[in-house]
Amino acid sequence: MNNKYSIEQRQLLSGCLPQLHVLLDRCYSRPPRDVFYRLIEQYRTGFPAWLARSGDGRIIGFIHLAPNSKGGTLETLAVDPDFRHLGIARALVNHLLDATSGVVSLTTRIPAFFATQGFQSISVLPDQSVFMIHVHFDREDLLPSEVIE
Ligand SMILES: CC(C)(COP(=O)(O)OP(=O)(O)OC[C@H]1O[C@@H](n2cnc3c(N)ncnc32)[C@H](O)[C@@H]1OP(=O)(O)O)[C@@H](O)C(=O)NCCC(=O)NCCS
Repeated sequence: MNNKYSIEQRQLLSGCLPQLHVLLDRCYSRPPRDVFYRLIEQYRTGFPAWLARSGDGRIIGFIHLAPNSKGGTLETLAVDPDFRHLGIARALVNHLLDATSGVVSLTTRIPAFFATQGFQSISVLPDQSVFMIHVHFDREDLLPSEVIE
């Protein structure tokens, strides 16, 4: 298998929804299998999203940010089972973090993975998923008195 991939940023998902449906069904094969439909309900044009593509152009990875006034929520991280352990998820998360100033939050069942990406665990939720945050402000977002020379 050719392990080459590329990552592109999108501000809309039209044109790639059928491929995203296949990807998310492959990635979330056990219940709840409605991840694609939750994406459709939640995603709005303009939300920053990143696609990973294999050398032949197939969508093999996805992540998006649901923005809010303080940063946003990391949503829908998924990498095709045939392309795992190549660092694609890490690369997608890094793209999202590099593009987002403020607080990025998420809930996850794999906190160890996100801890290596600089996320802090805040709380274990009743369903045993973990609420985590990553805080990073761009210098220009800080008030002058908060910038320490
Ligand atoms: C989680 C997921 C996105 C990782 O994708 P990936 O491209 O293989 O991840 P990377 O190659 O960047 O990093 C791999 C590392 O992440 C960690 N990791 C990946 N999946 C993990 C899991 N299920 N549990 C714990 N750690 C995990 C491991 O440390 C792994 O290291 P290794 O390659 O040395 O084993 C992918 O397995 C996936 O799509 N899973 C199904 C959907 C999902 O769980 N999404 C996350 C919801 S918050």
